[in-house]
Amino acid sequence: MTAARRPAGKGTAVVILAAGRGKRMKSRVPKVLHPVGGRPMLASVLECAAALKPSRTVVVIGHQAAAVRAWIGDRAEIALQDPPRGTGDAARCGLKRLSGFRGVVVILNGDTPLVRAETVERLAAAHGVSGATVTLATTRLADPTGYGRVVRGPDGAVTGIVEERDAAPAQRRIAEINTGLYAVEADFLGRALAELSADNAQGEYYLTDVVGAAVAAGRTVQTMAVEADEVQGVNSRVDLARVEGVMRARACRRWMEEGVTILDPTRTWIDATVTIGPDTVLAPGVWLEGATAVGAGCRIGAGSRVAASRLGDGVVVKDYCVIEEAEIDDGASVGPFAHLRPGSILRRDARVGNFVEMKNVELGVGSKANHLSYLGDAVIGARVNIGAGAITCNYDGVKKSRTVIEDGVFVGSDSQFVAPVRVGKGAVIAAGTTVTEDVPADALVIGRTAQVVKPGWAKRKRQASKHRPGGSRTRGARRAATSRT
Ligand code: UD1
Ligand code: CA
Repeated sequence: MTAARRPAGKGTAVVILAAGRGKRMKSRVPKVLHPVGGRPMLASVLECAAALKPSRTVVVIGHQAAAVRAWIGDRAEIALQDPPRGTGDAARCGLKRLSGFRGVVVILNGDTPLVRAETVERLAAAHGVSGATVTLATTRLADPTGYGRVVRGPDGAVTGIVEERDAAPAQRRIAEINTGLYAVEADFLGRALAELSADNAQGEYYLTDVVGAAVAAGRTVQTMAVEADEVQGVNSRVDLARVEGVMRARACRRWMEEGVTILDPTRTWIDATVTIGPDTVLAPGVWLEGATAVGAGCRIGAGSRVAASRLGDGVVVKDYCVIEEAEIDDGASVGPFAHLRPGSILRRDARVGNFVEMKNVELGVGSKANHLSYLGDAVIGARVNIGAGAITCNYDGVKKSRTVIEDGVFVGSDSQFVAPVRVGKGAVIAAGTTVTEDVPADALVIGRTAQVVKPGWAKRKRQASKHRPGGSRTRGARRAATSRT
C-alpha cells in the first residue's frame, strides 16, 4: 500500500527513526531489519504506525540506507538522514519530508518492536484530549541502564530528559525512563528541532532535548505510563534475544487465547505472520514460520518446523518434520522425519511417512508414500501406493523432468522412475523396477534382472573356506563369536 498523501493539515503523521548505526549490534544487517517474531523489527513498528491511520508515515533512514529502503518499498515514505547525527537530527529530517504538516507528529523508534498498537493509539488519544504540546511515554525499569532518564522537579512535573552518558550519578538512579515514543505538536517540534545543540557527551542532536525546550517555553509536557515490556529497545544481540523472547511469549499467549493448545509455550515459536485454527495442538519445539496458516484440529509433533505453508483442518504432522512452502489438505498426515520442500502438495487424506523427501509434487487424495522415498517434479493421482524406497529420477544432470503417476497405481518397493515418464491408471510396478518408458493403464511392469537360484552354493562356500589352511575366521570374528550372549 502507498501511504496516503492527503494535503497537509490537521491529523496525525508518524515519523519512525531508523537511521542509526546500530553499532552495538556488530552486524552487516541494518539493525531495524533484524527479525523479531520472524519479521524485521521495522515491520512491527510500521504496524503500530498504521493503527493510527495517519495521513503520512515517514521512515528516516541513513545507515545502510539502500537495504532499508529496499525493504520499505512502498510501505511508507522515506526521508534520508546523511550522516546520522542523532535522534534530533533524524526527527528534523523526517519533519522536513512532512513539509508544512500542521497536526500531531507521533515519533517512534525503529528499534523498539515490542510497542503495541494499542499503546500508540492510547498515546495519540491522550495527547489529543490533553492539549499538551508534548506527550511522552515513560516507564519504570528495575535496571534503567542505557536509557534516557525522565527528570522531574520537586512538584513532580517533568523538567527534561537526560541521557545515560550525560547523567549525574543521582540522575542515573532514576528508574523512570524515556521510551522513545512521543506525540508532539508539529509546529512546536519544527521550531524546537531547529534550535537543538549537539553539546553533549555523544556530540549528537538529541530529540530528547525537545522535552526540556518545551518546559523552558512554558508549554505543557505530559507523560503517559506504559508497560515496561513494551519499550525494551534493541541495541545489542543480548537485547535482541530478550525482545525476541517477549515477542514469542506474546504470540503463544495470543493463540492459546484463540483455542490452540501449546504443550510448552517456552519452546514453541510462532511468527507474527502465522494463523492457527482452534483445537490444534502444538508439541514442544514446534516452529511455525512466515506466512503459515494452520487449520483447526491439527496436531504438530515435537521439533517440527513449518514455513510459509498452508495446512488444512485435521492435518497431522508427526515429530521432526521440515515443511517449506507446501500445501497440505484436510486430514492428510506427514512424518515423522519427513521433508516437504517447496511445491509439495498433499491432497486430502494423503499420507507421507518416515524419511520421505518431496519437492514440487502433488500427491493425490488418499495416496501414500510411507517410507524412504524421494519424490520430485511429479504428479501423483488418487489412491496411489508408493512403496518403500521409490525414487523419481527427475534430474539428468542438465534438466529436470516430470513423472506422472495416474490414479490407483501400485508402486512396488525400490522402484525408480526415470523422468520424463508416465504411468497409466491402475498399473502395477513390480518391486525393484526401473521405469524408463511410459506404462499403459492396468499393465504390470517388471524391470529387474531375473532371479538366479543356485541350490547349496552357500553351504559349499562356507565349508570350502573352513578347510582353507590357517582357518577361516579372523581374530575379530572369533572374538565376536565367543562373546555373544
Ligand atoms: C534513545 C533515547 C533515549 C531512550 C531510548 C529508548 C535519544 C537521544 N535517546 O536512546 O532517551 O531512552 O531511545 O529506546 O533520543 N536514529 C536515527 N538517527 C540517528 C540516531 C538514531 O534515526 O542519528 C534512530 C535509530 O536508528 C533508532 C532510534 O533512532 O531506531 C534510537 O536511536 P538509538 O541510538 O538506539 O538511541 P538510544 O541510545 O537507544
Ligand atoms: Ca535504542
